[in-house]
Amino acid sequence: MERKQLLLDAAHFRHATKAFDPDQKISEEDFSFLLEIARLSPSSIGLEPWKFVVVQNEAIRKELSTYSSGAVKQLETASHFVIILARNDARYDSAYAKHMMTNVKDMPEETFEQHIIPAYRTFQDVNINILDGDRTLFDWASKQTYIALGNMMSAAAGIGIDSCPIEGFHYEKVTSYLQQKGILKQDDPYDVSVMVAFGYRASEPKYPKVRQSQQEIIEWIE
Ligand SMILES: Cc1cc2nc3c(=O)[nH]c(=O)nc-3n(C[C@H](O)[C@H](O)[C@H](O)COP(=O)(O)O)c2cc1C
Repeated sequence: MERKQLLLDAAHFRHATKAFDPDQKISEEDFSFLLEIARLSPSSIGLEPWKFVVVQNEAIRKELSTYSSGAVKQLETASHFVIILARNDARYDSAYAKHMMTNVKDMPEETFEQHIIPAYRTFQDVNINILDGDRTLFDWASKQTYIALGNMMSAAAGIGIDSCPIEGFHYEKVTSYLQQKGILKQDDPYDVSVMVAFGYRASEPKYPKVRQSQQEIIEWIE
């Protein structure tokens, strides 16, 4: 019961923080805990198609804010600001999938070639049908990054750290800015997925949390 209450308290505590207290910094230990939570997040077929870019440089944050209308205050005041990239090459037959399965997960190469490739081909091509275009493949990887995003925000709330998820930016402009800065190389297998700011709230939220009722959003089939 106590654990459930702690998790519920964290869910109520978390809100999309618009402005952080610029003088309160997250400790190295706490931030590395959040990164570890991200790293341990689940992903479809275990491909971990992500990268977390922590942007602490003030000038870069300022320039990013010109393309990020939904993150102006957060970029200015957050203790830590993360751009989450998603891979654009997470196909069943990519060198990356092979690397993940044989090097990271220690699967014998023969098993990968004979069993995994055909199974993942059916999964990606037929079942979830994401091989029609680059965008569908990227969006599938991007979905996985949102799991890490959610986990990081929930874990942060659990230890009293505030956060704000951010989609309020111009994707193309942010991408070309990151390329111009050399943060994203032209042939990097990543594109921008979503951003997230962390820190400590400057003030309490203006509005109480409102949500639809469980009745409105849950249907039981018995
Ligand atoms: C994927 C995602 C992207 C969001 N992008 C922004 C954003 O760019 N700027 C912002 O201030 N809030 C952003 N939000 C915050 C939502 O508006 C907010 O979560 C929602 O209104 C519910 O409020 P609460 O999180 O305070 O409970 C985003 C939320 C999500 C989940």
